[in-house]
Amino acid sequence: MIKVSPSILSADFANLGEEARKMQQAGAPWLHIDVMDGHFVPNISFGAPVMKCIRKDFDGIFDVHLMISDPLAYAPSFAKAGADMITFHYESDADARKTIDVIRGLGLKVGMAVKPGTDVSVLEPFLPQLDLALVMTVEPGFGGQKFMPQMMPKVEYLRRWAQKTHASLWIQVDGGIDAVTAGTAAAAGADVLVAGSAVFGAADRQDAIEAILRSASSVGRTV
Ligand code: DX5
Ligand code: ZN
Repeated sequence: MIKVSPSILSADFANLGEEARKMQQAGAPWLHIDVMDGHFVPNISFGAPVMKCIRKDFDGIFDVHLMISDPLAYAPSFAKAGADMITFHYESDADARKTIDVIRGLGLKVGMAVKPGTDVSVLEPFLPQLDLALVMTVEPGFGGQKFMPQMMPKVEYLRRWAQKTHASLWIQVDGGIDAVTAGTAAAAGADVLVAGSAVFGAADRQDAIEAILRSASSVGRTV
């Protein structure tokens, strides 16, 4: 089942609670929480205290994407603030194996992400321990950028790995997803589509989510 995880980065930060409630009403099963530290990426968003405030406004999965240099140090505070899943970057400073164990030990699902310039095969040793692998289809840091179709071989690689090993691995794409690019990502094998501006910027957000899902399910998987 393909799902859309709307990225809260494109929400009105002055009304985050209401924005989260609206996403719930629009039928989003997950909410993608983009955390940026101004060090790992050239932008600062918000931290665990802000996320905690909107936990009560959304019933579904809090899908936390840590774009920070030290995910190991901050994972416990995000767990406490209501994260269901934490995805951290391979390129961060943290020891990946240790970070996976700590997040798992906190009772959460675990994901690992790669930036556009990183070869996806670096994730291979960790895949059996992961619930999710995230392929960035823009340079992390900002919403509203253009989808990079040249990242699709990474998605295909992950889908092939999951098929070969019969593992249940969510394959997430993040960056530039809309009703057109969703089809490209789904054809390559993605099943969790993060969408920020295409959903939050739409006049009717439910329509926007449905359009993305329609596009994703209208294509056959090529892998
Ligand atoms: C980028 C973030 C994305 C971003 C997606 O650094 O990780 O989640 O907000 O936004 P759009 O869909 O507008 O590219
Ligand atoms: Zn993200």
